Amino acid sequence: MKGKPLVSIVSAGLSKFGKLDGLYAREIFAEAAREAYERCPNLDPKKEIQVIFIGHMGESYEHQGHTGATAADWAGLLPIPATRVEAACSSSGVALRSGIYAVLSGLCDIVMVGGVEKMTHRSTSEATEFLAMASDFPFEQWNGLTFPGLYALMATAHMHKYGTTEQQLAHVAVKNHFNGSLNPKAHFQKEITLEQALTSRVVAWPLKLFDCSPITDGASCVILTKPEKAKKYTDTPIHIIGSGHACDTIGVYEREDFTTLKAAKIAAKQAYAMAGVKPEDIDLAEVHDCFTIAEIIAYEDLGFCNPGEGGRLAEIGETTLKGRIPVNASGGLKAKGHPVGATGTAQAYEMYLQLTGQAGKRQVDAAEIGLTHNVGGSGVTATVHIYRRD
Ligand code: COA
Repeated sequence: MKGKPLVSIVSAGLSKFGKLDGLYAREIFAEAAREAYERCPNLDPKKEIQVIFIGHMGESYEHQGHTGATAADWAGLLPIPATRVEAACSSSGVALRSGIYAVLSGLCDIVMVGGVEKMTHRSTSEATEFLAMASDFPFEQWNGLTFPGLYALMATAHMHKYGTTEQQLAHVAVKNHFNGSLNPKAHFQKEITLEQALTSRVVAWPLKLFDCSPITDGASCVILTKPEKAKKYTDTPIHIIGSGHACDTIGVYEREDFTTLKAAKIAAKQAYAMAGVKPEDIDLAEVHDCFTIAEIIAYEDLGFCNPGEGGRLAEIGETTLKGRIPVNASGGLKAKGHPVGATGTAQAYEMYLQLTGQAGKRQVDAAEIGLTHNVGGSGVTATVHIYRRD
């Protein structure tokens, strides 16, 4: 069996993703925590969890900071120490990494990591402004650049350098909406056609409505422990065997290349080396498709194909549920939704379901080794984790 376990995941929870009117972030997090507790009856959360890391990007949505303690309170976990982790859209990927540090340091046996964001009660223009705070202020935000705009720059650079087409971007959207139609917790659960994707309204050319992830409410969490303790809690733990985390310049204008995310490539290299596996060993992946171009760049940065071949990989169906390497079986950020602080551990939740055979209609056949790729901002932070079944 490949890969020595660093830590094990013994339970996981996810709230419904979508427009959750009338709920505060703390209540949404409690829903995710409840599922994690129900899945793991052998765990006494209040007695056994020793530390909590909660990914949360923005105080602005609810005019509320101090999310770690607030989420812990509503999950019934006071006075356990809880810390908010902020790294934009990779906040809970970094929370997961923090949980791994806590277990590997020897300080903690049981750790809860998760994330939450409540966004949809704000107008699109407010959410766009709050999201833009994860980009450079003096040169990007100040000049009106938004996240759709930043990823549109990457898309045009990729098209110019490699001939990537709008059709290839649309293939990513069609695949992820199909997968979302099989996920009862996804924000969007309806299939779309290639034509619908291509004729949807332009947001920031070449990105159209269906090239963008939506503004979503949601929460997620996983429970980590030492591998030698995992069987006390479940017969079917999954193991994290590799973890990578790297950062890049906040301004894209300081980067050598717009067609790749250097931080993601470095994080992937670290995770592969730690796990002792190669890209061809990965059976499925959840990648950060905040925009369709981001998924195509992820294929290349993670080594699923050569630079410039990502668009073709989507076009010929290699990343569909029955393809060579299924990507975003959950529906991805595109269709499952992107409550930014919750996304990293929502990917880990999907990996937990897939590697324990509990993913229902979207189950990937014979999944043994999986990878998650979570990106903050325009590639300023990236985490990559590699998992295997027991
Ligand atoms: N994909 C598919 N459908 C979407 C959608 C998306 N991304 N966003 C909204 N819709 C749908 C809504 O469900 C609604 O459908 P309905 O009329 O059937 O109810 C319709 O489109 C209009 O929704 P609305 O919220 O008014 O759209 P909008 O124009 O205000 O916002 C975007 C659309 C794409 C601008 C917005 O979702 C967005 O900004 N996404 C990017 C978020 C982002 O940058 N995240 C961080 C990434 S790093």
